[in-house]
Amino acid sequence: MQIPVPLKVAILTIAATGFYTYVGQLVPQKEVHPPEVVEMSSDLSTADLVEIGEGIMSGKGLCFTCHTVGKSGALRFPDLDGVAIRAGSRRPGYDELTYLAESLYHPDVFIVEGFSAGMPQISKPPIGLTDDEIRAVIAYLQTLGGQATMTMDTVVPFSAAAPDGPLSAASEAVDDGTATGSDEAEVEGAA
Ligand code: HEC
Repeated sequence: MQIPVPLKVAILTIAATGFYTYVGQLVPQKEVHPPEVVEMSSDLSTADLVEIGEGIMSGKGLCFTCHTVGKSGALRFPDLDGVAIRAGSRRPGYDELTYLAESLYHPDVFIVEGFSAGMPQISKPPIGLTDDEIRAVIAYLQTLGGQATMTMDTVVPFSAAAPDGPLSAASEAVDDGTATGSDEAEVEGAA
């Protein structure tokens, strides 16, 4: 029996397409998803934040593509071990929280000695962490040499909405939490 040529071509085309589709399924795909926002409810504990922050740092934050924790020697990027200890004395007038927040919202304002600028502004795309995600990241950073004190109510002195934080209003803004507007009483009451 003779199969007509057009039919042969058709069969071959279908077979080849099917074969490559099949092989394509077998090869593990590196899919590129837009980063998913980590949903964070307002009742998360400090320990929850630390855990979420660690996950973000090794996941969508891409922090560990550059940074290490506990590695020494000639490094291209600052090792983050003990960063909570150094954070409070890196910049005059900056406490630990303010320094850590600035190093995430504005990495290029202060460059760690011995390193070059080049850390991405992680609150902006492509990494684009939300304020809450950055809050969790800071909580985790606080555990690197220190004790996490971050809560969902802690006023972080920078935010995506007020990216300049204390930079724009130098002296007073550090104390009043700038953009959030409502929950400032707690901080001011401490004086
Ligand atoms: C492309 C590489 C890169 C990525 C990704 C990156 N960083 Fe950095 N980071 C740097 C460089 C370079 C510096 C040092 C220069 C500077 O001070 O800005 C730095 C500095 C820091 C500092 C200050 C360290 C110190 O000792 O004072 C912190 C904290 C930090 N990064 C946290 C993070 C976190 C958290 C993430 C992820 C959300 C992250 N980085 C992602 C490159 C990176």
